[in-house]
Amino acid sequence: MKLNLAVLPGDGIGPEITEQAMKAVKAVAVKFNHELEYKYALTGAAAIDKVGEPYPDDTHELCMKSDAVLFGAIGDPKYDNNPKATVRPEQGLLLMRKKLGLYANIRPVETFESLLHKSPLRRELVEGADFVAIRELTGGIYFGEKGRKDDGNTAFDTCTYTRAEIERILKLGYEFALKRNKKLTVVDKANVLESSRLWREVAQEMAPNYPDVKTEYMFVDNAAMQIIQWPKNFDVMVTENMFGDILTDEASVITGSLGLLPSASMGIHTSVFEPIHGSYPQAAGKDIANPIATILSAAMMFEYAFNLMDEGKLIRDAVNASLAEKVVTEDIAEGKAFKTSEVGDWIANYIGKA
Ligand code: IPM
Ligand code: MG
Repeated sequence: MKLNLAVLPGDGIGPEITEQAMKAVKAVAVKFNHELEYKYALTGAAAIDKVGEPYPDDTHELCMKSDAVLFGAIGDPKYDNNPKATVRPEQGLLLMRKKLGLYANIRPVETFESLLHKSPLRRELVEGADFVAIRELTGGIYFGEKGRKDDGNTAFDTCTYTRAEIERILKLGYEFALKRNKKLTVVDKANVLESSRLWREVAQEMAPNYPDVKTEYMFVDNAAMQIIQWPKNFDVMVTENMFGDILTDEASVITGSLGLLPSASMGIHTSVFEPIHGSYPQAAGKDIANPIATILSAAMMFEYAFNLMDEGKLIRDAVNASLAEKVVTEDIAEGKAFKTSEVGDWIANYIGKA
């Protein structure tokens, strides 16, 4: 099969981790006889530095004509403490999501046996936890009307959702639930927010169409608590943009490291595959960052964008083998810590020999 990829390394550790993921992608392409083509493009602070904007038109055009996008990370500390910056790397990510119509962000939360002792939760709570968080990605407070008034002394951001936006993401939630353990938890704040009441109204209308799925409603504050108290109770969780942003960071650490969780963003145009973690600027260029989340994002890319399940599984097997053999970076190492590039080489080599 012909695989036509756009690779957007971004900022900080982005270039190093996407390089490791590309090693795995190339090894899989050779193994399964796929014709691989890929092109790099600028995004984030790296793009601002070069061309003055964080998601240049050239980058968007490349994404539009590719079959899938592999994305590293975005963000640079020089913008973080400057609330007056007029152009920010994160705008690139948001613009990409909007322009590609990536309304669904899928973040599977899985635990790894060899890392359970690293979880901040007790083993018996987290062992076997396995759920999918689906975050709405192109609506809500991130994209609603925002601004200042009263000479800049009052600021506002608005959370807006249309019925159509809610329906399409809930539909995806139900489709995932049907393929899994048939439970959908709709997370909102319907006791306070009007937008959440519309979410709940739409969910209640849709639920009877999915009689095999148990629909459960949960307020977001309660959900934040349940994720650490009873992570095994979740199967598929669906929620709006900002709640999803916060809950998925929380969910990701229960697995033992933020460096492990991949994600897929899907919607109208080309899908994007990226790690959940950020650009970790302190580690940039040091060859110490954990590449596994990005490598697992490449596995999701084979599965979701190309429906190539064996290819995705081989990458997952290789990652599991590296964890079992303790060929891991310093964030999860017990004894010897391996470099980012060494982990990438080991995984690609495993794929080549499989
Ligand atoms: C994420 C990130 C982004 C978000 C930032 C970098 C804009 O935290 O992908 O979760 O808030 O969506
Ligand atoms: Mg986030």
